[in-house]
Amino acid sequence: MSQKIILTGITTTGTPHIGNYVGAIRPGIAASKDAKKKNFYFLADYHALAKNEDPDKISRSTLEIAAAWMALGLDTEHATFYRQSDLPEIPELTWILTSMTAKGLMNRAHAYKAVVQDNVAAGEDPDFGINMGLFSYPILMAADILMFGSTHVPVGKDQIQHLEMARDIAQRFNHHYGEILVLPEAVTDEHVAVLPGKDGRKMSKSYDNTIPLWLPEKQLRKAIMRIVTNSLEPGEPKDPEGSALFAIYSAFADAEQRAAMRQAYHDGIAWGEAKKQLFELVNSELAEARDNYHRLMEEPAHIEEALQKGAARARELSEPMIQKVRDAVGISTIR
Ligand code: TRP
Repeated sequence: MSQKIILTGITTTGTPHIGNYVGAIRPGIAASKDAKKKNFYFLADYHALAKNEDPDKISRSTLEIAAAWMALGLDTEHATFYRQSDLPEIPELTWILTSMTAKGLMNRAHAYKAVVQDNVAAGEDPDFGINMGLFSYPILMAADILMFGSTHVPVGKDQIQHLEMARDIAQRFNHHYGEILVLPEAVTDEHVAVLPGKDGRKMSKSYDNTIPLWLPEKQLRKAIMRIVTNSLEPGEPKDPEGSALFAIYSAFADAEQRAAMRQAYHDGIAWGEAKKQLFELVNSELAEARDNYHRLMEEPAHIEEALQKGAARARELSEPMIQKVRDAVGISTIR
């Protein structure tokens, strides 16, 4: 009971960029190597479905994201790595939880409320473009978490409310049906900086300012050359604070390299030179994984095999769990 059970969900939308890498993938993979912890990693493809109706994009993104995590060294022997949709127990638990979750709780979800607000501001019907998948998204997420008795769930700040909802849902279930579900805790890492994008705003697909993780070397260099800087000339001292270039450099550098770059800024390093050094640093960290990635993408069967193994291991736990839940709520064979 005292063992930490850590569960990480990865929504399969889009192609990973270096902001995802620094913020979620790299720390997640480091955690997978900790032998003392029990780790679950899964591809949340049912969550992706609520946000995207393009079948090719959904399946492409699932493949790319699985390949990325594996190429970067996710320890799939020690950690359980699976695809959400390979576990029929997940939608089953989702429905059972849906049936006992107050609609009012879902009305309060920030993500849902933001869309309603945008609709109202645009003079649209408040529910315009909102499907039930988006509305019930936190319940599916609660099922992911509660299925495995997760104690700790690493998330970004935008997901903290979803963890609170998972706790609310678990508490209500336990109160009514008996102590079956474990109340999870959100883990947010203050040290993981939000990476700025090429234009200095947060790196995000929606701002179109990302540097994709697997750019070929030449294009990676070009993308880094396009990071915005100011017009200070070589030889003029530069301020590392507020410099997107410096922030990105810092995310890849060790303490010594960071201090040296800080000094170089003060000494007036040319922007072109700073960018060249950033390229070399990022490229050296990613080069080997990039080769692994391309190899994996050519052998998707290898990825599928790893996911099937992971699903089989996950189901050893989800099958008895759903049985317990079914019994508790009275969905069972007649005896
Ligand atoms: N909603 C999460 C995100 O967008 C992904 C996710 C789905 C998840 N289910 C989860 C994260 C369960 C943690 C636990 O980032």
